[in-house]
Amino acid sequence: MAGFRLPKTGTVEVAPSILAADFADLAGEIAQVEAAGVKMIHLDVMDGHFVPNITIGPPVIAKLRKHSKSVFDTHLMITEPERYAKAFIEAGSNHLTFHVEVAERPVELIEYIHGMGASCGVCLNPETDADAIKDVAGLCDMVLVMTVHPGFGAQKFIDSAAQKCRRIRELVGPDVRVEVDGGINPETCPVAVSYGADTLVAGNAIFSKPDRARAIEDIRAACK
Ligand code: DX5
Ligand code: ZN
Repeated sequence: MAGFRLPKTGTVEVAPSILAADFADLAGEIAQVEAAGVKMIHLDVMDGHFVPNITIGPPVIAKLRKHSKSVFDTHLMITEPERYAKAFIEAGSNHLTFHVEVAERPVELIEYIHGMGASCGVCLNPETDADAIKDVAGLCDMVLVMTVHPGFGAQKFIDSAAQKCRRIRELVGPDVRVEVDGGINPETCPVAVSYGADTLVAGNAIFSKPDRARAIEDIRAACK
């Protein structure tokens, strides 16, 4: 599947995480945030092993694909990402992020994902050193810095984790997106951007608000 690419760097993009959306009406929730002009939808995949929570898999993504033209930014919080990457791309994911903590052969996995026509990136947990991505920095289209411990929404932003964006930015250069995920809201997003992030995942800060367009605009405005 694959298809559309990540937006070029040079702009700050908000990627709503549907983890905080109404799972009984995901297509409607996505339509609301797309009306506010977002280009990426963040899809959180959890397996109950890598993280103590379970969410969605390829069948749900395949159904959502029919309702959206946004980039599907799929965050794999799973063990054995190499085993499932193909299924997530066939379901319609345009970008796959896997965790450096569990990838046995990250270089090969990125090449494999690129070979299937999707873009690719790696993710670091709050306690993982930024230099853990050194070997793959030149291959990533985006690097995801967790600013909470993965597994659940609505947690508090960890500033020390966000500060790793500075080192990640040095490692990847200006043309690769640096994404932050967890506890992002109008108060924390300017801090993350000041550290070098340009892609802001937000779940509760958008979907817990009745007016999603306004919530997205509040995040964008806070980063200007
Ligand atoms: C957490 C997920 C996040 C989550 C963020 O493990 O990876 O994408 O949805 O939620 P908020 O924005 O509510 O912290
Ligand atoms: Zn996520």
